[in-house]
Amino acid sequence: MWIKGIVILCTLAFSHALIPPTEEPDAFTLQPPYLYEGGARCSVDIGCLTLTNSSSVSGTDGIGQYVGIFNTHSTPLGTRMTTLAKVYDDLDVTVYETSFPDGLEGCSMGDRNGVCTGYPVFNLVNAASNTVFRYVTPGDSMTGWNLYSQGSFWSSYRQFRSGEMGGIAGFIIPDSYSVVMSALQHPMAVNNWLDVNGTSASLHYGVQGLADSIPAGYSISVIAVTGRRESSTSFVSTVLKWGQSVQMKNDVVKIPDYTTEYLGYWTDNGAYYYYNNDHFEDYEKLITSLNHFTITQQIPIRYIQLDSWWYYKGVDNGVKNWTARPDIFPHGIAPVHNATGWPILAHNRYFSSDNVYASQNGGNYPFFIDEENKKAVPLDKHFWDDLFDEARQWGLSVYEQDWLDREYEGVSALHTNITLGDDWLHNMASSAAQRNIAVQYCMSLPREALHGAAEEAVTQIRVSDDYHLATNQWRIGHTSLFAHALGLKPYKDVFWTTELNNNNPFTWCQVFQPTLQGITTNYVGHINVTESGVPCVYWDSIDFRAQYPTYSLPENFCRNPGMLHDRAFCFTNASLDYPEELWTWEYCDVPTCETDCYVREGRYYIGNQSVTENGHNCVDWNGYFGLTGARCRNPDGTEDRPWCFITEDYTAIDFCDNKCPEAEEYSPDLQSAVATLSAGPVGIGDKMENINRSLVFKSCRSDGKLLQPGKPLTAIDMYFLSDSRPNIWTSETTISSKYTFGLIFIAEVSQRYSLSASELNLEKSLSGTTLLWYNYPYIDQLTIYPSNTDIETPKTGGFRNFVILATSPIFEINGDTYAILGEVDKWAHVSSTRITDITIEEQAFLVRIDKYSDESVYMRFYKNGFIFEIACSLNNNLIDVIARTCS
Ligand SMILES: *[C@@H]1O[C@H](CO)[C@@H](O)[C@H](O)[C@H]1NC(C)=O
Ligand SMILES: *[C@@H]1O[C@H](CO)[C@@H](O)[C@H](O)[C@H]1NC(C)=O
Ligand SMILES: *[C@@H]1O[C@H](CO)[C@@H](O)[C@H](O)[C@H]1NC(C)=O
Ligand SMILES: *[C@@H]1O[C@H](CO)[C@@H](O)[C@H](O)[C@H]1NC(C)=O
Ligand SMILES: *[C@@H]1O[C@H](CO)[C@@H](O)[C@H](O)[C@H]1NC(C)=O
Ligand SMILES: *[C@@H]1O[C@H](CO)[C@@H](O)[C@H](O)[C@H]1NC(C)=O
Ligand SMILES: *[C@@H]1O[C@H](CO)[C@@H](O)[C@H](O)[C@H]1NC(C)=O
Ligand SMILES: *[C@@H]1O[C@H](CO)[C@@H](O)[C@H](O)[C@H]1NC(C)=O
Ligand SMILES: *[C@@H]1O[C@H](CO)[C@@H](O)[C@H](O)[C@H]1NC(C)=O
Repeated sequence: MWIKGIVILCTLAFSHALIPPTEEPDAFTLQPPYLYEGGARCSVDIGCLTLTNSSSVSGTDGIGQYVGIFNTHSTPLGTRMTTLAKVYDDLDVTVYETSFPDGLEGCSMGDRNGVCTGYPVFNLVNAASNTVFRYVTPGDSMTGWNLYSQGSFWSSYRQFRSGEMGGIAGFIIPDSYSVVMSALQHPMAVNNWLDVNGTSASLHYGVQGLADSIPAGYSISVIAVTGRRESSTSFVSTVLKWGQSVQMKNDVVKIPDYTTEYLGYWTDNGAYYYYNNDHFEDYEKLITSLNHFTITQQIPIRYIQLDSWWYYKGVDNGVKNWTARPDIFPHGIAPVHNATGWPILAHNRYFSSDNVYASQNGGNYPFFIDEENKKAVPLDKHFWDDLFDEARQWGLSVYEQDWLDREYEGVSALHTNITLGDDWLHNMASSAAQRNIAVQYCMSLPREALHGAAEEAVTQIRVSDDYHLATNQWRIGHTSLFAHALGLKPYKDVFWTTELNNNNPFTWCQVFQPTLQGITTNYVGHINVTESGVPCVYWDSIDFRAQYPTYSLPENFCRNPGMLHDRAFCFTNASLDYPEELWTWEYCDVPTCETDCYVREGRYYIGNQSVTENGHNCVDWNGYFGLTGARCRNPDGTEDRPWCFITEDYTAIDFCDNKCPEAEEYSPDLQSAVATLSAGPVGIGDKMENINRSLVFKSCRSDGKLLQPGKPLTAIDMYFLSDSRPNIWTSETTISSKYTFGLIFIAEVSQRYSLSASELNLEKSLSGTTLLWYNYPYIDQLTIYPSNTDIETPKTGGFRNFVILATSPIFEINGDTYAILGEVDKWAHVSSTRITDITIEEQAFLVRIDKYSDESVYMRFYKNGFIFEIACSLNNNLIDVIARTCS
């Protein structure tokens, strides 16, 4: 240790490098620190900051043993800035701390995406170098899913996510080096800023650019974790090691969260009952019926999520009073909780500037109110204490804080006041933790995910866009990796277990809104070619998702971002390589709702359809039901679809069939598999009658306890190294600390690959002789792989096609070859909630299982080339595999 320390200190003193540097000259070496004082930049290189003291230090903290250099700098005004670079024992982890013993006034550099202090500042690989140099940056909301970007640095650095929307940065030099960096302490107040000048680039970390001032004694820190030839260059391993180090520093134990262990029912965007109480008078009647229905059908729902439809909203749709509206829950939420026994997972969003709690509005608590953006941030922990105390009375078990990105981006004080962001989120989470209320973050920025990692109460986090029947939101292999690394359970969001939920509120057509002067913006369908049949350009490739963050712009589907035109369109030739004036676009032929087709029962249909489904012409209503004109209508919504009179004597009617195309789920299996194997919450949201019970039971036991792998399915290195981002994700589950079972999920992949255990991140599963087979779709065809052999992965091709391969270790007992296939009717063939222990001795092979009451469990095993099944029922829970019994 002592010798190593001397070597490191020498290197630190001479080059300030990120230890150890890559083979590229200057890459990841440090530039001198700087700060803004009174709005002017003051740095060591221009002689403004002077090094006044430098000493070597060593010690131990949550991450481990370190050695480092502690430097004190002073400005001409006498303000001190100290920097400390700590290099930990294994040389892969470095932490950079910056402190301001005297505080700092006038730190702002005037840019919300910039930094007002600079340390550490890394030089990146020069463009003149021949080295392939890639970046990975989660960006913007949903743990960085929304504007996630990766690519070859010098050809696509314009899409590198930094500033307000970024914060976590990864770099890869294939086969030789990888590094992941982020804020460690006070992540809400730390920005990174990418400076590109000609062929050189540098990445700067520091206090966020609009900070007014820094209080005396304040400090921030940044962590950088490397993967090198000497350790492992795998980017995925580096991400995991980075997250593990962040967790060691945070040193928190998460509170138990029941909703991550049991199946739930969700009512958020995409769910059938989202702002839709169907034919029920109110949500009390709806939810008690749902409860009754699921009990009689033996669908084991164990909690319910209540989305934004139940509370009072104020200006700009912010929450005004987080209390149930009597038109929605006539007796409040308590009796619903009481009658169903379901714990409540309740949604909340940003507080509106006119909320009833703020003292400015006559309420009891201090808030910061941003009048311009109509949003408010509570300043006191008491506020949260009182809010949660009240909510516990009506059954709150998990608090879902949504719209975290808009809150940060929209409240000016969260940019200028550097303590406010971390305090706001800490007050919320610590108050929740004291009451055993868990917190889910939704629409969170990378900085918020980093903050949440340090909170006991924050257990789960959304990792993709709203379900909303979108075609791409199931792709969570990359963001799940970051969430999992940070110790947060990734949530895929609600899904349908069935393809059709008739009369659902989601349509694949654009809605005409008179308020927008006839401009339509809300087409959410999947048409990806123009009127004349030209293929659409991907929105990502022209960075439109960054330019129009409030619009959902998946893939290359026709949309109308920024109301650039008056209805859905797409670009036919556009690229960041040439100016926007040269881009060409065309309208898309997408269906229009309301005007020429009706949604649901057509109560609000105002279109021109005048011919009925049997080809009759409508006659003029002539005042009947207060209507005029010969048009299909559903006066008062009393019929299930529009109709009209078809004879002049008003005795005969006929119905109209111009219904708008309804949203469909193309692959309930894919949704269910991805949600279950995310190892995070699983929430379904069909119309109750349509819940597919057999699909539900692929996720859980008969009591709703989830059967999931030991870690989420996460993307492998190949994903981060290629521009096509193939969806090959893997996961492992270890039982009795030595038997490891692997899963390989492959979706929409158009080519075969041959991948090693480390390339698949399945080192443990594939360490010995392994049995491999298709668990979805299940095929009784097994392959034995000796250790250290590459796995041949199949291609699936196609839209939403996927397969799941499963692995099991092979054992020799008494000259026979055995393996546990496990529960092949579940998504997770092996799960620690089912198999609690495996005992293998010379003559014995015992599997202990956990199951609910008299649930029947079917386990498959392999012996010498054959498969057999053992059934357990009643109170059986010990399988003797050799004797083929369950007792
Ligand atoms: C320099 O820093 C060391 C370590 O913090 C401290 O012990 C020493 O007093 C400092 N010297 C001066 C001149 O400030
Ligand atoms: C860009 O780099 C050149 C050459 O190193 C240097 O002279 C110039 O000052 C730099 N510009 C900025 C804005 O940093
Ligand atoms: C729950 O139901 C029980 C039995 O009907 C009743 O005594 C109790 O007051 C109810 N609690 C609430 C919060 O409604
Ligand atoms: C919020 O609304 C509830 C229900 O209408 C009402 O009882 C309560 O007083 C309101 N809260 C405040 C602080 O005004
Ligand atoms: C900054 O935020 C803190 C909470 O972190 C608050 O106590 C303080 O009053 C705020 N300062 C200003 C100037 O608003
Ligand atoms: C449009 O989407 C379909 C899947 O719905 C896909 O098969 C097709 O290749 C896409 N076309 C273009 C031009 O992207
Ligand atoms: C697309 O636009 C660019 C720039 O105007 C032009 O050079 C190129 O030929 C166009 N491509 C096609 C296929 O029209
Ligand atoms: C319906 O008819 C009116 C009057 O002729 C016309 O202005 C409107 O555009 C028509 N709507 C549709 C959807 O065709
Ligand atoms: C229910 O799901 C199972 C499993 O995916 C599937 O085989 C079955 O066809 C589905 N049933 C219906 C009615 O969709």
